[in-house]
Order: sequence, then C-alpha cells, then structure tokens
Amino acid sequence: MNRVHIKTYGCQMNERDSEAVAAMLRARGYRIVASEHDCDVLLLNTCSVRDAAEQKAIGKAANIAHRKRHQPDFVLGILGCMAQNRGAELLDKLPDVDLIVGTQKFHQVPEYLENIRAARAAGVPLATSIVDIAEEAGSQNTIRDHVLSQDVAAESNAAGGAENAGVDAPPQISAFVSIQQGCNMDCAFCIVPKTRGDERSRPMEDIVAECRALAERGVREVTLLGQIVTSYGRRDYAHTDGISPFVQLLERVSAIDGIDRIRFTSPHPRGFKQDLVDAYGRLPKLCGYVHLPMQSGSDRILRAMNRPYTRERYFEIVEALRAVRPDMYFSTDIIVGFPGETDEEFEQTRELFERCNYDMAYVFKYSIRSGTPAAEMGDQIPDEVKEARNATLLGLLQQNSVRRNATLVGTVEEVLVEGPDKTGRKFTGRTRGNRVCIFDANPRLIGQLVSLKIDRASVSTLYGELVLSGVPDAA
Ligand code: SAH
Ligand code: F3S
Repeated sequence: MNRVHIKTYGCQMNERDSEAVAAMLRARGYRIVASEHDCDVLLLNTCSVRDAAEQKAIGKAANIAHRKRHQPDFVLGILGCMAQNRGAELLDKLPDVDLIVGTQKFHQVPEYLENIRAARAAGVPLATSIVDIAEEAGSQNTIRDHVLSQDVAAESNAAGGAENAGVDAPPQISAFVSIQQGCNMDCAFCIVPKTRGDERSRPMEDIVAECRALAERGVREVTLLGQIVTSYGRRDYAHTDGISPFVQLLERVSAIDGIDRIRFTSPHPRGFKQDLVDAYGRLPKLCGYVHLPMQSGSDRILRAMNRPYTRERYFEIVEALRAVRPDMYFSTDIIVGFPGETDEEFEQTRELFERCNYDMAYVFKYSIRSGTPAAEMGDQIPDEVKEARNATLLGLLQQNSVRRNATLVGTVEEVLVEGPDKTGRKFTGRTRGNRVCIFDANPRLIGQLVSLKIDRASVSTLYGELVLSGVPDAA
C-alpha cells in the first residue's frame, strides 16, 4: 500500500509540484515508483490550459479506475489545475476518484492519503471522496511549503522526466525553483488565473537559500519558474537603481558558488525592460536562451487577447537581446485561431515568427476555456483553419531548427552532463542554448561542464565527442 506513481501533465510548474509532492510522500515512507501499472496509489497531476490536456487526464483516470475491481485498496487521485478548475464536478464522470486536490493544497496530499489508508485499514472506508480546492490563507506560506526539505531532498532525484517525478535516479544536476505562483494578467484566452490564483511571490531570501542548498547537493543549473516572472516581487521589493526585483533576484542567484547556469520561464514582453536585457550582458551564468511568449503577431489580436504590447515592441525586445548576445536562442508560445483571427492577421503572425527566427516554439490551436472572456467572443475559427495555420508555423520552425543545428556541426559547445541517456549506453546533457546532446562519457563527468565537438545533428538532437582539453569554466 505504499507504492506511489505520479503522472504529470502540462508545464514545468506542474513537474515542479509533482517533485514536491513526491518528496513529501517519500519523507512519510512511501516509495515513488516508475510504473503506473505496478503501484498502490496513482496521482494524476493535471493541466487545464487546453481542452485536449483535460480530456487526456480524464481518459486516463477513467481507464485506471477499472483497476479498483481487482485491486480494492488502490487509491486514485487528481491533483493540480484540472482539480482546481473542475472540482467535485469531476466525480460526476469519475466516481471512483478518491482524492481531488487543487493547486494551493499540494502539501495536504500526504495527510489525505493517510486518512484514506487509515479508514480502509479500520474497515470503514470513507463514504465520500476527499475534495479540497480551497485557497490557502497566507499564500506565501503555501509556496514556502513547496520547498523540498533538506533531508528529503538529500535522497531526492531527478532532473528526469515529468512522467516519473521523484523516481530513484542519478543525482540531480538541474532543478526547477518556483519563485512565484499565480497570475493577474487576465489574458482573454487563459484559464491559469483561475487555476493558479492571484499572483504572489516567494521571498527572495527563501529562493536564494533554496538555490544555495541545491548547489550544495550538486545541482549546477536552476530554472526559475513562474507564470510571469518579469513581475516577480513587484509588490514586495523596490526597484534599486532602475533594477527590477526580478533582475535583483537573478543577480543574487548568480552570486551562488556552484550554480553554473541560470534559466527562467516565462517572462512577459510587457515586463521585459532594459535592465533585464542588460543582465544578459553582465551575468554570464544566465543562459542565452529566452522563452518569450508572443501569442500573436497582429496588433488587433494582441489587443483582443488583452496582451499589452505591440508586434513592434515585441520585435524590439528580440533585437535588443540579439544586440547583447548575437547567438541568443529564442523560443515562444503562439496561439493560432484566436476568435476572429483573419488570414491577414495570421499572416502577420507568420511574418513576425519568421523574422524572429525561433529555435524552438510551442504553437497552440486556440482552445475554448469556459469562464474566460475569449470563450464568449463570436467568430470562433473552424478547426481546419487552425490546423492549417498550426502546420504552417511548425513547418517554419522545423526549417529553423535544422538550420540552427547545421551551423553547430563542427563547433565546440559547452555541455552540462546530466546523466545516462534513454538507452543507458550513452550520456546526455544540454548546451547553453538548451539543445539536447548525446555522447560517450564517463559517469564521473555527471554534473560537470564539458566541451563537446558536435559532429552530427538531427532536427532536435546534437551528437558529438568530448574534447578533453580546455574544458571551460562555469562562465
Ligand atoms: N504565463 C504562462 C502561460 C501559461 S499557459 C507561462 O508562459 O508560463 C502556456 C501557453 O499556453 C500560453 O502561453 C498560451 O500560448 C497557451 N494557451 C493558454 N491558453 C490557451 C488556450 N485557451 N488555447 C490555446 N492555447 C492556450
Ligand atoms: Fe495566462 Fe497570460 Fe498569465 S497567458 S498565465 S494570463 S500572462
């Protein structure tokens, strides 16, 4: 009754939350296992950002619920965004779900599992499922509760994979650090303000302390996570000498010995000011890879989306960053088929997409999220049109990616060795531009920055050989 599998859908924030739940459960004596088939407790940590993501988790839960017939002690839980979004209504479709826990209550999961277990052991199973999607009073503390405790994390795992959060694995080299929860932007299409609640930031001291503790345990790369990191700390800290609280945080994390690389996701174009651009010039640990959500290249659609910037301003940020770091990598989020998007407006998105020359992009077909303003807008776009626009952008992206990778063949890249690859025969790591590399290495090199001569590339992966002399320093 103590084997838990956590299956994660959606974004890095969800991966981070799953890791935190895994760590708390491990501290209570549960084993986190890699197989969803061979477990006593299955927790689905869900995503609501598009309907397809919700349907996937609902389908999974419906399938798994059958297991209860021959494994009566089995516990099935739904956590995170879809739990928050739909709450007890999920039980209409999925009556066998034992536990529904929203985004502000992850820290309650161990206690709720104990309640279920204790009741069953006593022969009086709970009459109803546990549903907790309340807000947590003192949201700062909720976030603080998500920090892995020192002892738990000491045996913790895993840069490895959303699907297997917390499964015993090689030492953790790269870690997600939550700096903020929620979002107040109210983009017209977005369910996140509902599922994740109001924007609130963790204290800078806590974040720095967590990064320092991670570095002491061998973590070399941190990715700072929030829905809108450029707004980090805006209510809690003042600008100093024109430097925003977010950039102050980057400076503090940069000063930590042992942290060699810093990434973050996601900034908002509105908050991407000169101080952040300049940070790329003076903080060498800051990786030259920026995920900058564009959503649309049409000013009219951006206004309808309630995204307060223009295509011109967006491109200005891209150019400013390329001026500071000419080899900067860019990725973005785009929504195609927002209500009312005309061919001409899509063409503007295509044109800006091409001009920005992205190395990576997440292109989404607009999905109606009930309760958001865009769901009420007329002129919904037919699916075939969304599909065609989607294919156009993905085609461009593939060309870009191939082109960028081709320029890397023959060069030497700094790679952070993360561990064995999927086959277990080779090793994997990423460049500063976040390209995945596969190569032969020695396990001693896990956690080290090495120089890799790239000799081959596919669309998404680089293959190379270690260059044994001249291994670069952190910077
Ligand atoms: N600020 C967050 C956004 C979370 S949602 C972040 O970047 O971390 C992630 C992406 O999903 C958004 O940037 C948007 O491109 C896409 N998205 C959100 N709502 C959507 C919807 N209703 N339909 C399609 N895509 C959507
Ligand atoms: Fe969603 Fe816009 Fe915030 S995309 S998470 S409302 S910045």
